[in-house]
Amino acid sequence: MTIESTLYGVQLTGIGAFIPETILTNDDMSQLVETSDEWIASRTGIRERRVVSGDESVADMAIAAAKDALASAGMEDGHDIDLILVATSTADTIYPAVACQVQEAIGAKKAAGFDMALACSGFVFASVTAEQFLRTGMFKKALIIGSDIHTRVVDWADRNTCVLFGDGAGAAILEATQPEANALLANTIQTDGAKGFELTLNTNTPNCPLVAPRTEHLPHVKMNGREIFKFVVNVVPTSIAASLAKAGLTLHDMDFVVLHQANTRLMTAMAERMNIPESKLLTHLEGIGNTSAASIPIALNHAVRTGTIQKGHKLVLCGFGAGLAWGSTVLEWTMVDQRTPWPATAQKSAAYLREHAAELAAV
Ligand code: ACO
Repeated sequence: MTIESTLYGVQLTGIGAFIPETILTNDDMSQLVETSDEWIASRTGIRERRVVSGDESVADMAIAAAKDALASAGMEDGHDIDLILVATSTADTIYPAVACQVQEAIGAKKAAGFDMALACSGFVFASVTAEQFLRTGMFKKALIIGSDIHTRVVDWADRNTCVLFGDGAGAAILEATQPEANALLANTIQTDGAKGFELTLNTNTPNCPLVAPRTEHLPHVKMNGREIFKFVVNVVPTSIAASLAKAGLTLHDMDFVVLHQANTRLMTAMAERMNIPESKLLTHLEGIGNTSAASIPIALNHAVRTGTIQKGHKLVLCGFGAGLAWGSTVLEWTMVDQRTPWPATAQKSAAYLREHAAELAAV
């Protein structure tokens, strides 16, 4: 018997999301920095972003997305969850971990949890990490979450970065299955520190007063947009090709390609490189902006809620970003949504979805 034949299969059995209610349009942005709706929309595809206000936290959003994902999997609470992984790079508290706050809020009494800071590739890294625990049989059910609030860490005077981000959270449930029911087909993850300082978010904590002071860095996102563009266009096709090869599949077999929703122009450039038809490229950022670790599960949830992704579809997901880090996962969609369906109007009309996004996410 080979080692592999003793491993469990893994399926995704739940998906959920939360996005804050407050909307900032591109016109709103032009009150803060010298920019325009035309510049932002043509370079990024973003027209609006959702932002937290008041005391809304990364943990609050993670909890709301987690509850939505549990409901989609037909679970009343987190009683059966063994593992909680939260991908976030903008947590309000470094400790307690956001995962521990989620654990308490959903009643996942027996679970273990921890946070992972991998910025925009965090959701894919969390998925691959959880998968290892499930395959070996150490755990049976995992809750993975991406939750980020970049609007508290961008420099609101820097037009290069402040127009790009929105806040939000997305979550998924992964469950161990019999090997023959495996639906997470293959994955690849990688990091490269060589260009890590092209995209940074510094903390700004001083040294002990008895030693030499530390150089002060503003705790803001700094990005060399062109370098990041080049990096992404290079690594994403290779990562996707590697995961597909491991799964013994090709892009032709995929129903949808779900990239980190950084910006439409970037996604289109990659799709052109890989000859992916527009109809297979899932995009969902026009009304919410780049939500970092949350972008892939938010896009998946939206596609499930609107009937775009259905049972039996094959997908490849690819996250990429600061680190620099990237990873991809090939999966077959097996989940049957247990939530109350969105109203038919919501499934048809993009305008309706934009107007009611927060309220629909909570259904
Ligand atoms: N409004 C108006 N003008 C702007 C703005 C803005 N918001 N931001 C930059 N500009 C100006 C610049 O100052 C520059 O002006 P100059 O020529 O007078 O100096 C000009 O526009 C061109 O700037 P570039 O940085 O060259 O703009 P570019 O066409 O490369 O677009 C962008 C910038 C959209 C960031 C692009 O580089 C890109 O898509 N990069 C990929 C990285 C990315 O999407 N990161 C998201 C976060 S990280 C992640 O999710 C992985």
